[in-house]
Amino acid sequence: MSGAQLWNDVDDYFSSQLSTDDEALRAALRDSGAAGLPPISVTATQGKFLQLLAQVQGARNILEIGTLGGYSTIWMARALPEDGRLVSLEYNAKHADVAARNLARAGLERIAEVRVGAALESLPKLADENPAPFDLVFIDADKANNAHYVEWALRLTRAGSLIVLDNVVRGGRITDARSTEPDIVGTRAAIELIAGHPRLSGTAIQTVGSKGYDGFAMARVLA
Ligand code: SAH
Ligand code: DHB
Ligand code: MG
Repeated sequence: MSGAQLWNDVDDYFSSQLSTDDEALRAALRDSGAAGLPPISVTATQGKFLQLLAQVQGARNILEIGTLGGYSTIWMARALPEDGRLVSLEYNAKHADVAARNLARAGLERIAEVRVGAALESLPKLADENPAPFDLVFIDADKANNAHYVEWALRLTRAGSLIVLDNVVRGGRITDARSTEPDIVGTRAAIELIAGHPRLSGTAIQTVGSKGYDGFAMARVLA
């Protein structure tokens, strides 16, 4: 059995045993696929992991950068109380539209809001609204801007908030210091920023599964 097949089977095993799935989530993936969105959402077990992180944080406010069809959004928004709020930033209007419908079907339209535009344009507008600090920030958009997104996350959080970055391993390409791939350059810059920042304490965890070999970085805001 190949490594990838084995990882897939283990993901399937945990997903089914732990019921990390339901009709609204399955429908979100189905409709995202039908609308031609790329199949790059977090996996079910990763979505549940994000939900648990939000719960451990006691999150009331969550910021997501990179919505796609709203699959990760649904997982995290379900961790919020009724008066909680999730803001998700998405560049592609079609993705945002599919996500809004998926969120409505999941009954989350009053909690989760998708804002269309380049995140580096939406973030200053969001900051101008003086929002309550976000307890969790999930960064999962154009990886080239990852360091900028961590900087924005620092401006929009509080001591004790958690910042999570998706896709920091990319099959191991992250270790290539000479890479000119914008995604790798951007993610390496984010890791350096986390490593050297006095207000952040971070780590990174490698993952395998139905999305291959990748990983998350996580950083707690210290002050
Ligand atoms: N978080 C989603 C997956 C996001 S995929 C999930 O796990 O379900 C990455 C998304 O980021 C894509 O929808 C892409 O259109 C969006 N994106 C790319 N560049 C962006 C930018 N500059 N600002 C905001 N979103 C962007
Ligand atoms: C890609 C983006 C993601 O956010 C992800 O989780 C996997 C793949 C991509 O752009 O290829
Ligand atoms: Mg991702």
